Amino acid sequence: MGKDVIIALDVDSREKAMAFLERFTDEKPFVKIGMELFFAEGPAVVREIKARGHKIFLDLKLHDIPNTVRRSISILAGLNVDMLNLHAAGTKAMMEAAMEGLTRPDGTRPLLIAVTQLTSTSQERMESDLWIEKPLDEVVMHYAQNAAASGLDGVVCSPLESGKVHDVCGKGFLTVTPGVRFADGDIGDQVRVTTPAKAKELGSDYIVVGRPILKADDPVAAYRRCVAEFVD
Ligand code: C5P
Repeated sequence: MGKDVIIALDVDSREKAMAFLERFTDEKPFVKIGMELFFAEGPAVVREIKARGHKIFLDLKLHDIPNTVRRSISILAGLNVDMLNLHAAGTKAMMEAAMEGLTRPDGTRPLLIAVTQLTSTSQERMESDLWIEKPLDEVVMHYAQNAAASGLDGVVCSPLESGKVHDVCGKGFLTVTPGVRFADGDIGDQVRVTTPAKAKELGSDYIVVGRPILKADDPVAAYRRCVAEFVD
């Protein structure tokens, strides 16, 4: 599985998504479509971007009863996307059901990645709202192990956690890592950030980069800089 840069296509319309992608004439970046664009435009935008030759991480973070997740994930896999995700909090039973629904009739399947605890969840909130009274980093690793035991391909995590995830779940278990910023860039609302070069050094398998590319004066140059630091 090759390392790659995934651009978070965090826009609210097909027009904005296409205007952005049209800037790329020489390469076809791997893109992440999240709830915002998917809920605005539906599966048609996924098909259109796929037809342009891009790999797609459809970031819809499924979390429901196992039967519903099995059936829904097979619909999403049918869009020929390359990566899907769900909440590990849905339990191993839900993740195993998701794996059952993932394989397409032709035997191929997208990668399936788990979200552990959202990075917006603090230790305090996890204890007070969720009644989980364990250290957050241990909860993250436990959820990652549950995902690996259920047959998933990896987790979304901080680049700073990639090494530990690989130690606990194996080198082949993928780490898909947001929170990436250039050394000389604006960090925005991200708290713990890492450069693409540092993410590579820490062992991330994929970096997910949004604003440093979307908001750059020259997004193609910013994308190439990520690739040069992370992949090449
Ligand atoms: O613009 P930025 O580079 O911060 O975008 C990062 C992307 O990764 C966004 O789509 C964000 O929702 C997503 N993400 C994140 N942190 C997580 C999980 C997902 O920033 N823990």
